[in-house]
Amino acid sequence: MKPVDRLIVALDLELLDDAEAMVKRLMPLGVTHFKVGLNLFTLYGPSAADVVHRNGGKVFLDLKFHDIPNTVGNAVEAASRLGVWMTNLHAQGGSAMMRKGLLFAKGPLLIGVTVLTSMADKELAELGIVKPVKEQVLYLARLAKESGLNGIVASAQEAAAIRSACGNDFLIITPGVRPSSSEKNDQQRTATPAEAVAAGADYIVVGRPILEAKDPIEVVQSIVRELEGKRGP
Ligand code: C5P
Repeated sequence: MKPVDRLIVALDLELLDDAEAMVKRLMPLGVTHFKVGLNLFTLYGPSAADVVHRNGGKVFLDLKFHDIPNTVGNAVEAASRLGVWMTNLHAQGGSAMMRKGLLFAKGPLLIGVTVLTSMADKELAELGIVKPVKEQVLYLARLAKESGLNGIVASAQEAAAIRSACGNDFLIITPGVRPSSSEKNDQQRTATPAEAVAAGADYIVVGRPILEAKDPIEVVQSIVRELEGKRGP
């Protein structure tokens, strides 16, 4: 895989026109993967995927499905009809839900979300889950793998353990990635692009460091340089 292909840019923008402008700015740098999330999709629906597709990009539809197996199966089928490259569901929905999703994934890669990075041991305990976050993440990653999913979303801190538990034929998608020069925002467990890939990530998801930069092109170029194992400008 080319280093730039490891980058998924999160299109967490308010307006569809701004999202399309960002796609048009970044595609000439070789960026092809864009994440469409809840905000953009709730407001604009399938048009949010269309703006990426009509400019030649690929969509990671990040709607984190979690419902009864039949409903999730139908939602994954609907995502397949949009022609997206990748979509996801909550592994906490259970193996029957994941398998049903997989059965209806006609095209997209299907990825599991384990424990949201906003949750720590205390928040899990509140839900009656007594395992520490790290153990619960690994437990759900194994369940996702056994259920046949193509991979998992995980922080760089968890990536190495998941890689050794689930093997090489299992995608690890890592958000919370910050180029050496950027701010961390509200992400707690951050890693640089190079650290995330060294820990076992196949793809990194980056939003605000690019979207909020004075010069998004410069930030993308520095991320790609880091992914190529080069330092500095
Ligand atoms: O702006 P930032 O780079 O933090 O964006 C990261 C993206 O990845 C956001 O769209 C966020 O919703 C998503 N994400 C995350 N942590 C997860 C799952 C998804 O940050 N565990």
